Amino acid sequence: MADFLDVIIVGEVNLDLILYGLEESIPLDREILATGFEMTLGSSSAILAHNLAVLGRRVGFVTRYGSDAMGQIAMERLTEGGVETSRSIKCGESAKTGVSILLPHGSSRRILTYPGAMFAMTVEDLDLEYLASARHFHLSSLFLLRGLHAGLPALVRELKRRGLTVSLDTNDDPDNRWNGVLRELLPFVDILLPNENEILAMTSSGTLEQALDRLSGQVPLIAVKCGRRGAVVQQGRHRFVAQPLAVNPVDTIGAGDSFNAGFLTAWLAGAAAESCARAGNITGAFSTLKPGGTEAFRDRAAVTAFLRTHRFHGSV
Ligand SMILES: Nc1ncnc2c1ncn2[C@@H]1O[C@H](COP(=O)(O)OP(=O)(O)OP(=O)(O)O)[C@@H](O)[C@H]1O
Ligand SMILES: [Mg+2]
Repeated sequence: MADFLDVIIVGEVNLDLILYGLEESIPLDREILATGFEMTLGSSSAILAHNLAVLGRRVGFVTRYGSDAMGQIAMERLTEGGVETSRSIKCGESAKTGVSILLPHGSSRRILTYPGAMFAMTVEDLDLEYLASARHFHLSSLFLLRGLHAGLPALVRELKRRGLTVSLDTNDDPDNRWNGVLRELLPFVDILLPNENEILAMTSSGTLEQALDRLSGQVPLIAVKCGRRGAVVQQGRHRFVAQPLAVNPVDTIGAGDSFNAGFLTAWLAGAAAESCARAGNITGAFSTLKPGGTEAFRDRAAVTAFLRTHRFHGSV
């Protein structure tokens, strides 16, 4: 099966526990009642793997998870989505699967994460031949994959040497430092997929224009996710805005990962940057219509209908 993979993603897996309807300010020592609850496959890497597979890409996902119920449910969801998980590692009793508790407050939200078993993954856990059997390598949540940092630049350099292309969505840096392994990896990255806050932080810039000016010489293709304003893309010297779809979101959790899924699907099909950004806006918007980042994509008929309506580029 490994011979036929389009994309390999090495990354974290967890369930998202989403509590709706809570006030932004939460008092101590009180019982606080949410108005709604969802438990769904979460984590940037796993959401992308799941949604890319639903969009028709052949995806291999390598992670570490605990031998607990949360890990079992998360891995089942990935398999149902069509993701190849044979190289993922089930850890012993002492390791727990990661978990995130999310509190959406309108367009903002709190995310509380226990990274769990994935924190301990190192490059020694990875099979280079398996990774190199794909066309494309993607990393999400770079700053959560701490155990991987030591060997990652050499690994990615080797994958590039073997002809793979590489994309990166760092997501947030919990330490807010934005350096170290990121600086070492950038020279090997073909596509960078940050949101607006992230690109400002990683370039110490005050405006998006300045941030793109600073990075455009280092990364050939940058798609910046701007929530309800769509995306801004820089390819070499060419910069353009990709307009969003008009939707009424349930929540925007995982919209960025779903944008990545659409963008990469079109890119792997050979589409121009404009079509890739449009594809990302379609799948990002679609994700907001159901809770979390994967629920919308579990309804295959709804996926097909939405993509058809919006003329998504790439086969499904
Ligand atoms: N309210 C919205 N209306 C239309 N499209 C949206 C909306 N919110 C998000 N999107 C789509 O989803 C994409 C990604 O959203 P966003 O900018 O929130 O990414 P993100 O911050 O990386 O999200 P996350 O990391 O939580 O997945 C946007 O570029 C846009 O295409
Ligand atoms: Mg993101």
